[in-house]
Amino acid sequence: MARQSEDEEAVNRPEELGEVGEVGLKAAVFKSPTAKNKMRHQNLTFTQNSLHLKLGDLKNLRKMEIANTTMKVIIVYESKYGNTKRAAEAIMESLNEAGGIEASIRELKEVNPNDVQNYDAILIGSPNHMGGPTGGIRKFIDKLGKLQLEGKVFAVFDTYMGKDFEKAVKKMEKKISEKAPRLKKIADGLSIKVQGIKGPIAEGELQKCKEFGKNIATQLKKS
Ligand SMILES: Cc1cc2nc3c(=O)[nH]c(=O)nc-3n(C[C@H](O)[C@H](O)[C@H](O)COP(=O)(O)O)c2cc1C
Repeated sequence: MARQSEDEEAVNRPEELGEVGEVGLKAAVFKSPTAKNKMRHQNLTFTQNSLHLKLGDLKNLRKMEIANTTMKVIIVYESKYGNTKRAAEAIMESLNEAGGIEASIRELKEVNPNDVQNYDAILIGSPNHMGGPTGGIRKFIDKLGKLQLEGKVFAVFDTYMGKDFEKAVKKMEKKISEKAPRLKKIADGLSIKVQGIKGPIAEGELQKCKEFGKNIATQLKKS
């Protein structure tokens, strides 16, 4: 019989892997060709009581289990002068600080709308242009209506100047409720004031982004 390679470990009783959790074990079993070939797996009952996994798989089981429980958030934004991008970054930072959440930001032009189906929550940010979201963001929302978004949630934010507080967020929320009614709102829209057409973000407003992210993180963990 071939000698086991150094990075391979025999686990005689499947229960010994119990602490990595059912989800992690199932994932490892189906992912690992080694395990797949050497055993039959049915609802965590093994027809053989001997199981061979590469040591690397064993080490990754805990990571995989954590990955299975991590909520994924995508923040899609448009930004002509960088202020909405800065708001998106602050929201992302506070989501990632909350733990158990993996948030990333993506500029609208880089996003394939189909990709948002891989996320638990979709956040959308737009500068206020002529009293509402940009044309690009409006088109993006239209496309959401064609996707499978059951069980997913959304929240929106805008940047504005003058008297247009919450104007773009209200329009985005209305459009999402019409075009993608399965997508549920997880938090009320956030409106961030900028000091002039090119910014910067007004004093104290970035803190609101942090609180917005923190609140969404709390809601996501409850859901
Ligand atoms: C074409 C255009 C139209 C705008 N219209 C409005 C408006 O109607 N109301 C408002 O409050 N701000 C308006 N603004 C100001 C933007 O909201 C501001 O430039 C934006 O928040 C900056 O964000 P950004 O740096 O991400 O582009 C307008 C800006 C541009 C460029």
